[in-house]
Amino acid sequence: MPNDRGSWGSRPGFILAATGSAVGLGNIWGFPTQVGQGGGAAFVLIYLVAVIFICAPILLGEVLVGRYAQLGPAGAVRRIAPTGPWWVIGLLAVAAGTFILSFYAVIAGWTVQYLWLAVTDGLASDARGSGELFDALSANGSQNILFTGLFIGLTAWCVNRGIRRGIEAASRLMMPLLFVLLVILAIRSVTLPGAGEGLAYYLRPDLSQALNPEIIGAAVGQAFFSLSLGMGALITYGSYLHRSHAVRSASMAIVGIDTTIALLAGFIIFPAGFSIAGFDPTASGPGLIFAVLPQLFATLPGGLLFGAAFFLLLSVAAFTSTISLLEVPVAHAIDQWRWPRRKAVLAVGAFTFAFSIPSVLSFGGGFFSELPAVGGTFFNLMVNVWNEWALPVGGMLISLFIGWRWGARFAGDELRRDGPGFPSPALWGFLIRFVSPTAIFLLIVFRFVG
Ligand code: PHE
Repeated sequence: MPNDRGSWGSRPGFILAATGSAVGLGNIWGFPTQVGQGGGAAFVLIYLVAVIFICAPILLGEVLVGRYAQLGPAGAVRRIAPTGPWWVIGLLAVAAGTFILSFYAVIAGWTVQYLWLAVTDGLASDARGSGELFDALSANGSQNILFTGLFIGLTAWCVNRGIRRGIEAASRLMMPLLFVLLVILAIRSVTLPGAGEGLAYYLRPDLSQALNPEIIGAAVGQAFFSLSLGMGALITYGSYLHRSHAVRSASMAIVGIDTTIALLAGFIIFPAGFSIAGFDPTASGPGLIFAVLPQLFATLPGGLLFGAAFFLLLSVAAFTSTISLLEVPVAHAIDQWRWPRRKAVLAVGAFTFAFSIPSVLSFGGGFFSELPAVGGTFFNLMVNVWNEWALPVGGMLISLFIGWRWGARFAGDELRRDGPGFPSPALWGFLIRFVSPTAIFLLIVFRFVG
């Protein structure tokens, strides 16, 4: 057994850490942004269907594989299937962890800068409109490289402390804080004058939008991203569980909390947005929350305090997610190459930082904001490749691997160790063998032709 692996101190510790991985910028920044671009409530509806029928079974499957093999994705796949093409799952995991972290940390870096502005009064005293504030802030290359690097550095420090003293301890401290902050902000937001229009936009689906393959694709991709699925993050976290720890209820809790928090974020953003004159949810793109919310905070009584709370919340949520992104390639180096944890953290951290620079520079105008080959920014290219393609494809491979290669019988036996409960091995086996992979496959085909 490699000695630098580590394990969770307790089952609640695992649940907090895995929830910490799931809950992140994907919920609070990504979900409302996508709802804004994807036409409101119709997107929410598709998202929920994807979470329940496609993603939840895969999430349980990933945790089961990890607990069974006691190894990260590449090792786990090899233990179950020494031959065959399944090793691509391990490769995808390492690549996705590294590259997603490289653009994720850029947004996290903005978040910390906004926190700083809120604390130092810079949000209120800034005379420019907040849209301009976001444009100016995101265009400042050197400052963003600094904050992105800072965030990656902090993540590396925590991951280097190991599973129990680093990841579990950080999640225990931060997840409760996050939840309290979210609820306070949601209450504040839905009691604003004019909040009703935002609620209607958010909750009343325009069903003519619901069958648009673009929107379905975005919703499914978003569900994978938000639940940290399709790249073995939950295989990795599951591998630090003791074989006797039950995973069924834990997995349901992770799905439930992650989805609740994404929905709550919508209750914060849309009422707040629509309470500002001239708000257009479709036009904002990645700047949605960074442009909309500061305007609100600047005008509300006590708004700066709420602003500071919000950006603190966002930083905290991002941090417990970047930890899990980094842990996937780090666990791979520890398991497969027998590297010491410290060396793995340093190597992956340095590579990720270097690769984050083109994402940082996607916002200032210049080469990376108008890539000739893709007609868009490097940052958008990254989001698109990983969020909308790689994770769903990874999820499809993982579900095929679990359902057909590991096999319904063996996988079911592993689930039976938990005793009776929901979902039953038969129901889960059906979903992961037939429903999840077919749905993802169809989605991919439709998006190719559509
Ligand atoms: N789930 C995280 C979020 O919502 C992002 C993430 C994706 C983390 C994949 C780990 C793995 O922000």
